[in-house]
Amino acid sequence: MKDETLLHKISQGMYVLSTKNSACFVDAVSQVGGGDTPMISVAVMKKNYTNEMMHKNDKFIIAIFGKNDDGDLIKTFGFQSSRDVDKFQNIEHIIIDDIKVPTNLIGYIYLEKVDTIENNSHTLFIGKVIDLVKFKDDEEMTYAYYQEHKGDVLKLKTSTGKTAWVCQVCGYVYYGEELPDNFECPVCTLGKEYFKKQIL
Ligand SMILES: Cc1cc2nc3c(=O)[nH]c(=O)nc-3n(C[C@H](O)[C@H](O)[C@H](O)COP(=O)(O)O)c2cc1C
Repeated sequence: MKDETLLHKISQGMYVLSTKNSACFVDAVSQVGGGDTPMISVAVMKKNYTNEMMHKNDKFIIAIFGKNDDGDLIKTFGFQSSRDVDKFQNIEHIIIDDIKVPTNLIGYIYLEKVDTIENNSHTLFIGKVIDLVKFKDDEEMTYAYYQEHKGDVLKLKTSTGKTAWVCQVCGYVYYGEELPDNFECPVCTLGKEYFKKQIL
């Protein structure tokens, strides 16, 4: 039986990926080289504005999200597009070579793009590490932890008892009695069958 949640068992961390003029939340980050030339890859969906900007720029930054960091950052960077909003408007950040980086996280890795690999839905961007800066000591949040504790991490509970539909894959929340026909998750593009009705 096909079960998309098995993808949660290939667990990476939780990160904010920034490049010039865009940033988004990502988990698909891997180390692909070590020793003298550490390298990191990040898979970015083609529909994301950050993908377009990653193609235009040759530097990017991956900031590491910790277990004690504010879950609202996931909504800010992961549930809306830099096409429509300035995600950094109310977020403490620094600017490094025109790239905005949130400062309320564990730290960041500054990378220079060395390769790209395209598939149908994503581009894999590979970067060479050029700087590593720590803001604080804390434990990183894994994607598996996020999947198990989405409700708490995203602070989904409201006092109003609203009907909500929560995407079981990425955590996106749609408020409303019923999901519209042909509804697709705006974040991970999966269909209605991946949404669970909850009263929040
Ligand atoms: C927990 C979480 C993990 C995500 N992981 C990825 C990822 O690895 N790659 C990706 O392209 N998008 C990922 N997303 C979705 C993007 O963050 C989302 O589509 C975002 O709105 C894109 O913004 P942009 O249009 O400004 O680039 C993730 C979202 C969440 C909430």
